[in-house]
Amino acid sequence: MGLDHSFELDRRAEQIDALAAKRKNVIASDQMVEGHYPIFADRAQGAHFWDVDGNKYLDFFLSYGTVILGHADPDVDEAVVREIRRGFATGLMKPIQTELISELLEIIPGAEMGMLLKTGSDATGAAVRLCRAFTGRDRVVRWGYNGWHDWCAQWDHGIPAVSRALVDTFTYNDLDSLRALLERHRGRIACVVMMPFMIERPAPGFLEGVRELTCEHGTLLVFDEIRSGFRLAIGGAQEHYGVTADLVTLSKAFANGYAISALTGRADVLRTLDTVHISSTYYANADAMAAALATVRKLRSGKHLERVRQLGERLQSGLRELVATYRAPMEVVGHPPMPFLDFGFGGEERDQRAKRSFYAATIREGVFLHPNHHWFVSAATTEQDIDTAVRAARSGFEALARDGWLAGERAEAV
Ligand SMILES: Cc1ncc(COP(=O)(O)O)c(C=O)c1O
Repeated sequence: MGLDHSFELDRRAEQIDALAAKRKNVIASDQMVEGHYPIFADRAQGAHFWDVDGNKYLDFFLSYGTVILGHADPDVDEAVVREIRRGFATGLMKPIQTELISELLEIIPGAEMGMLLKTGSDATGAAVRLCRAFTGRDRVVRWGYNGWHDWCAQWDHGIPAVSRALVDTFTYNDLDSLRALLERHRGRIACVVMMPFMIERPAPGFLEGVRELTCEHGTLLVFDEIRSGFRLAIGGAQEHYGVTADLVTLSKAFANGYAISALTGRADVLRTLDTVHISSTYYANADAMAAALATVRKLRSGKHLERVRQLGERLQSGLRELVATYRAPMEVVGHPPMPFLDFGFGGEERDQRAKRSFYAATIREGVFLHPNHHWFVSAATTEQDIDTAVRAARSGFEALARDGWLAGERAEAV
C-alpha cells in the first residue's frame, strides 16, 4: 500500500494549517524520511497504529513517548469516558484532583506538594517562575529540551534578547562547565532546570555533583522528568539514580497520551504560587486527571515498567548484534525503555543521508522508528514485535550496505 491519501490530505493541510505547513517546509525535510513516512494517522491500538492509507505500523514513537501502556488502553479510556459522561469541566476542583496529587506524593521522591497543569512547557515554565519568585533571582541555567517558551525555545527568532540573556546552558556530564556558570553569576541564578539525561547517561557522580553545586550556591534544582517520569521507573530518574531535586516536572507517560502535566517538590517553593500568576481555564478539567489516575494506578499495580525495560533490552541487544555483524559505525544508546541508534558516518550531513537509507527500509517493513528522536517502548509491545523490529533493522543495515555506506566485510554471514 502506498501513501497517496496521506500526500493528498497534506497538500490541502499545508494551505490552511500553519503547523502542517511548518511540518512540511521546515521539519519533515530533516527529521523524517520524506516520501516514505506516513503523515496522517487514522487509528491506533496497542503497539500499532494505522495511517489513512490503511498501512499498519509497529509504533516506537508512541506520541512522543506518552503512550506507555499502549494505544487505547481500555482501563485508561474507560476512566476518561466515565469522567466525560459526568461532566468534566466545571472550573471548580473535583475530588479527583486531590486524589491524583496524593498518588504523586507517594510515588515521586521529594514530593511534599504538587500541582497539575496541562502541557510540559506549562510545567517547566511554572517551575522557572516559582524558582525566580522564591529566590528573588532572575538568571536561569538549563539543559536538554525543556519546551517552547521564551526562556528555553530552540530557536532565538521571535524572542526578546533580554529574555535570552538571562538563560545559560552547560555541557552535560561536565560539572566544571556548570560550576563556572554558578561562579560567574554567583548569587544571581534562581535555578538549574535539566533533564536528568537525554540519550547519554549520567557519569557516576554527575547528578550528585549537580545537586551539591546547586545547594552550595543557594540555587534550586529542577529535574525535567517529562520524558523519564513514569518510564525509567515509576518515580522516574530520581528513583533510578537516587538523587532528589527541589522541584520535578512530569507529563507524557503520566496519562498514557492525555494532556496533563504536574509539578511536584518542596512545599516551601510550591507555596510561592500564592505570590505569582500561573493559571489556566483548563487546569481543573478532570478528563485528563482520570486518565492520569488510571495510568498511574495501573503502572503501580503491575509489572508494566519492568516489561518495558526487558523489551527495550531485547531490542537493544538485537540491534547491537546487527551493528557488530555489519561492522557499522553506529552505536545503540539510551536507557532500554527509551533507546536510540546513533549514526557516526562522519558529520551531520552524512549521518542524515545514511539515515534516509536506513529508515526508508525500516518504515517499508512497517516499523515506525523516528530517525532523530528517542524511540519509546510500550507495555503493549510483545517479544514477537521486538523481533519484527530487529528484522526490520536488518533490512535497514542491508540498505546501508547496498547504498555503499558500509565499507568492508561483514563480521559473519548474514
Ligand atoms: C524533557 C521535556 N521537557 C519539556 C517538554 C515540553 O513538553 P510539551 O511539548 O508538552 O510542552 C518536552 C516535550 O517533549 C520534553 O521532552
